[in-house]
Amino acid sequence: MKPEWSQWAKEAKEQFPQANSSLLPLLHRIQQAEGWLSDETIQDVASLLGLTTQYVESVASFYSLFYRDKVGKTVIHVCVGLSCALAGSDHVMEKLEHKLGIHEGQTTPDGQYTLLEAECLAACNLAPVVQRNLRFHGPVDPAELDADAFLAGDGNEVNR
Ligand code: FES
Repeated sequence: MKPEWSQWAKEAKEQFPQANSSLLPLLHRIQQAEGWLSDETIQDVASLLGLTTQYVESVASFYSLFYRDKVGKTVIHVCVGLSCALAGSDHVMEKLEHKLGIHEGQTTPDGQYTLLEAECLAACNLAPVVQRNLRFHGPVDPAELDADAFLAGDGNEVNR
């Protein structure tokens, strides 16, 4: 456990006195610092907040924006919710998989990119939606997607 985590847990509990409520901000803060949430981290957070490891694990694994495995420098989420699926998100995923040479759920060998699917990202009006390091892009036309430009950070970024 990193020394600063106790202080972060204290601050989260001050803001959200119920342990269940302080869990999300604490997990978020630790992930921002560490890049992901290891099994050890889950145990440490449970201990800091007086929750069971199983409970913390269930919350961390429920939200697709918490990473239970190491991720690359750039994390790409392709929304596969209904609106995005109807708008062709499977073709967007295929194009990015082909470009990166990996499948959904994997990280490129150089550690640069991780490609993940996500359930509805609450931006259905932009379907199909892709997030690049949590920045929204959409609508992403699978037929016109320039994967090189997208991976380089260009294209259709929208503020949400
Ligand atoms: S289904 Fe993709 S943002 Fe809602």
